Amino acid sequence: MTGWPVLVTRRLPAAPMQLIVDRCNADVWQGPPEAIPRNELLTRVRGKHGAVTLLTERVDGEFIDAAGPELKIVANYAVGFDNIDVEECTRRGVMATNTPEVLTDTTADLAWALLMAAARRIPQGDRFLRSRTPWIWGPEMMLGQDVHHATLGVVGFGRIGQAVARRALGFGMRIVYFDLFRPPPEVEREYGAEFREFEDLLAEADFISIHVALTPETRHLFGPAQFRRMKPTAVLVNSSRGPVIDEEALVGALRDGEIFAAGLDVFEKEPEVHPGLLELDNVVIVPHLGSATVATRDAMGMLAGENLIAALEGRRPPTLLNPEVWKGD
Ligand code: DGY
Repeated sequence: MTGWPVLVTRRLPAAPMQLIVDRCNADVWQGPPEAIPRNELLTRVRGKHGAVTLLTERVDGEFIDAAGPELKIVANYAVGFDNIDVEECTRRGVMATNTPEVLTDTTADLAWALLMAAARRIPQGDRFLRSRTPWIWGPEMMLGQDVHHATLGVVGFGRIGQAVARRALGFGMRIVYFDLFRPPPEVEREYGAEFREFEDLLAEADFISIHVALTPETRHLFGPAQFRRMKPTAVLVNSSRGPVIDEEALVGALRDGEIFAAGLDVFEKEPEVHPGLLELDNVVIVPHLGSATVATRDAMGMLAGENLIAALEGRRPPTLLNPEVWKGD
């Protein structure tokens, strides 16, 4: 094989895999079911010029040391990059990239799927019918919460948060949001979105959808005190990162009726799911499917591949996270 030696830590969809193997000498970890074990990762990255990583791989000083001086780029196959110590990459002159934009609408669709499913008890109804329990239509059977004309609270009003808000307009919803960075007034106008302090949003919203990055500040942003502030009819949706929610506290809040329901795509100790969640009927859980469509996973792979190859060819990667490292034009 010819080309730059690179490590790819999981088999990607066919088109991006082809893009990479055509240009690089790619060592591809063939999991699932397992993510590449840490010692295997550190062994196999040795001497590589680039790596395509997933959220399951921690990229830190140890990883960069193991790779050696030829490592130029770590191309994450995800928009989130909490698995990458970007500061350390920058300090060591390694480019880091992610896959923004290409998954925005797909992830917003999934957040909405969870919101609707949790509000209207769809998986619960499906499980009920499959149990073959005798039933007749009843005025109080499996009552949910109205989505239309309710108030949506978006926590984290970036690309995906705004895409979720855009969809809410079709349901006649009122939109409130919280973010540390206020968008320009025209963005607020576009969605009729009003800023709220976090604590106020918790008390006001009927539906809360989380779209923050995982940082030390957002870890356990939602805990016992926050659930107590929410309405007992509220539905919480998380398609960002699991540790943003204190899962133990969420189980208590769902069990004790502090909130009505939750829809979760991500988990605090992924891939583990808190056993308490598995016991509850008022939570909808899916295995981190936010960007999981054929077209979007292809697009993420193509972008990760373009980032990788650009860096190896001495061109600026399209979605560079640490431009300080870029020494070109
Ligand atoms: C992302 O792109 O960040 C997804 O959560 C997959 O890691």
